[in-house]
Amino acid sequence: MPKIKYMFLKYSAALIAIILLAACGNDKPTMKYEAPADGLSLFKTNCSSCHLVKAKLVGPALAGFNERWPDKKKLHDYIHNSQEVIKTDAYAKSVFEANNKVIMTPFPNLTDTQIDAILKYIEEESK
Ligand code: HEC
Repeated sequence: MPKIKYMFLKYSAALIAIILLAACGNDKPTMKYEAPADGLSLFKTNCSSCHLVKAKLVGPALAGFNERWPDKKKLHDYIHNSQEVIKTDAYAKSVFEANNKVIMTPFPNLTDTQIDAILKYIEEESK
């Protein structure tokens, strides 16, 4: 009898260890958009309702944005909230006025990595 009890304890301990290992093993990063390759899908989800790369839609064509936005940090701020940047930046204000003062959707939740992925996609498509 005591032997069976001992075996039961041993197997229970082994089982708990396996369950714990499996639970920890599942702890993979779940950031879905961290890979630069996702620029296309991020662009489609967030930007393509208003922008094409090479032609005007609601907003202007985005090709060549690099030359118009030499300050990368400012461009990130602009995509996070264009209206904030328009307050202080003459170029941003002129684009706003040239596009009939249509307000671009702010994207406060896009991370810098996600914005870079989108910009990289636009760059590739601009060629
Ligand atoms: C609701 C429509 C809309 C959406 C969605 C939108 N934009 Fe815009 N975007 C505009 C408009 C309109 C302008 C022109 C400036 C203005 O009116 O404020 C603009 C301007 C821009 C500019 C400056 C263009 C230039 O020539 O300097 C960039 C860069 C830009 N958008 C990037 C993006 C990115 C990236 C996304 C997606 C994350 C996006 N936009 C989503 C409407 C939009």
